[in-house]
Amino acid sequence: MQRLEVLSRQLTAACATTDRTPLLATKEIYDSMYRKSIEDPEGFWGELALGYHWQEKFPARGHMQYNVDLRRGNVDVQFFRGGTTNISYNALDRWVAAGRGDEPCILWEGNDESERRTVIYRQVLDDVCRLSNWMSSRGVKKGDSVTIYLPMVPELPIAMLACARIGAMHSVVFAGFSADSLAQRIVDCKGKMVLTASGVMRGTKPVLLKTIVDDAVKLAAKQGQPTTSVLCLEVATALRASVTPWNPSIDIWWHDAIPKQSTVFPPTWLDAEDRSFLLYTSGSTGKPKGVVHSVGGYMVGVGESCRYLYDMRPGDIVFSTADCGWITGHSYLAYGPLLCGCTIVMLGGIPTHPDGGRCWRMVERYKVRQFYTAPTLLRSLLQLGDAWPRKSDLTSLRVLASAGEPMNEHAWHWFHEMIGNARCPVVDTWWQTETGMGMLIPLPCPWFDAKPGAAGVPFFGVQPVILDATTGSELPATGAVEGVLVLKGVWPSMARTLYGDHERWEQVYFAPYKGYYFTGDGCRRDEDGHYWITGRVDDVINVSGHRIGTAEVESALTEHADCAEAAVIGVDHALKGQAIYAFVTLRGMEHQTDAMRKILNDHVRKVIGPFAVPDTIHWAPALPKTRSGKIMRRVLRKIASGQEKELGDVSTLAEPGVVEMLIKLRGK
Ligand code: PRX
Repeated sequence: MQRLEVLSRQLTAACATTDRTPLLATKEIYDSMYRKSIEDPEGFWGELALGYHWQEKFPARGHMQYNVDLRRGNVDVQFFRGGTTNISYNALDRWVAAGRGDEPCILWEGNDESERRTVIYRQVLDDVCRLSNWMSSRGVKKGDSVTIYLPMVPELPIAMLACARIGAMHSVVFAGFSADSLAQRIVDCKGKMVLTASGVMRGTKPVLLKTIVDDAVKLAAKQGQPTTSVLCLEVATALRASVTPWNPSIDIWWHDAIPKQSTVFPPTWLDAEDRSFLLYTSGSTGKPKGVVHSVGGYMVGVGESCRYLYDMRPGDIVFSTADCGWITGHSYLAYGPLLCGCTIVMLGGIPTHPDGGRCWRMVERYKVRQFYTAPTLLRSLLQLGDAWPRKSDLTSLRVLASAGEPMNEHAWHWFHEMIGNARCPVVDTWWQTETGMGMLIPLPCPWFDAKPGAAGVPFFGVQPVILDATTGSELPATGAVEGVLVLKGVWPSMARTLYGDHERWEQVYFAPYKGYYFTGDGCRRDEDGHYWITGRVDDVINVSGHRIGTAEVESALTEHADCAEAAVIGVDHALKGQAIYAFVTLRGMEHQTDAMRKILNDHVRKVIGPFAVPDTIHWAPALPKTRSGKIMRRVLRKIASGQEKELGDVSTLAEPGVVEMLIKLRGK
């Protein structure tokens, strides 16, 4: 109790401070902190971790241990060993204990601009406890997986925090995935419970989520994974013309079950190295990977990155347009800002609905300080014209953040000048689901000379290394170089494994270049030491900031009876960054029609979800292959983009005539 009082006093003092000097006010501070983070990671992160509540404190020395070199044994990373904590406690209880229970925790707007909710910290804590009590009464305990398939409503972060309170791993599945994909994820994580909603309005379109869950639950049961409880939140606006399907043996309404639960649920004190959540992401094979994060390391890495990279302090209003179905929504919408005692602004609809001014009106309405988005949305907002941001007062903004895909210079300047009035840093962060936190960043400090389109310099503990793509040897540590980006060493919020498949974790990330974490990205470093991401070097593409494995789309296409073979590549797209371009070989040439294109697109929509539907289907009576049968994607990329004059060496093609035929069929 004494400890809590001391913590409360410290936090109240922190809230009262008006001093907004950036934490990295000078280059010297950054340099010396960065140096310490590399030379003595255990001491460095150990000190930063003291800003969080630990029920059992980890020892100052000996809490960190790791091996990422497969030549020395299995990959194993541990931080804060011996410490116990709980993320929900650090995100909620300690702020309520500091007297901030009546401050807004979540400011939410629905698809319809007049739908608004303010949920204060105390209320969020009560709701989290109620849900934890209900889940635990249904048998959910530490280490279990819970699938969350909710739209962007306050109950989504509440559900994540309730799982964290129990110590159960949540698996948030983006509510744009199809029933097949949802089922695949339920089966993989062996989850028995699904938290969902009746539906959601996306722009003018209702999406009936419960129907999708019902289909997924049936599919999962067929694959040996029965669901015992589906908790369903009623979202009235989505239901205007429909009735939510109901299976009384497993379904229960949120409003029937949760309000009557107790608002007391003591947090489960978890070991720092216990699992906090899993999140599926795409890789270069068809099967999604369940990336597993730790409790202590994830909490400290994400919380500290919010403070140092986005200058988040207690009471700040943070608006992120990310969806909690992806890692940005986990780290920089839900967990990170709450760990810093901020207020989060959530938008439950399409950010361009009803018009291009929606986000900017929200910035003005809530006096947003940090605005976090992705380049795709920026590109669509800028296309809608300058008149929209001009109509709103954006002077509350201090930090403009973006992540997930390369930002083109045009979008960067628009963000910086039109939205930030050239006074807010643009923090275009490079990171990944697996890294948990921002890794390469243009620092949000007046002394930092950010370059449009560059991912900046390494955050604490991050040791980027550029390898020669062909030899795999390290390129010089200074000066301009280009190659494959790998990371040396470890950082607290790095994922610990892939759910149920540690070997795959080791093979995908630590086997390609021994002794390093392989990012899958190409990168160049310029003379000034700034890093520029040049795109994926594996078979993963980035469409509107969504990471999609080409193999996933290929396997969805070939699952259709009429499709004999498919090869999917990414092509440049002005708005989405990359678009999905599929070369498809049908079983019967006579089917090469637009009607068949629609059938295949619908099939991909059903198997994965609408965001994975190919933009182009290019009929391919045959695919260009090497004599050993490997598809030459390099050749396909050139054909798709009309650069057939730059095909390069095609002497290894088994049937050179295929190229000519594909060129003729382009646009047909
Ligand atoms: O290719 C990189 C790209 O997005 C990938 C990670 O995607 P995901 O795991 O979904 O995490 C998104 C969270 C940011 C990376 O391997 N990427 C991410 N950030 C940037 C980026 N590409 C260029 N610039 C960035 N700032």
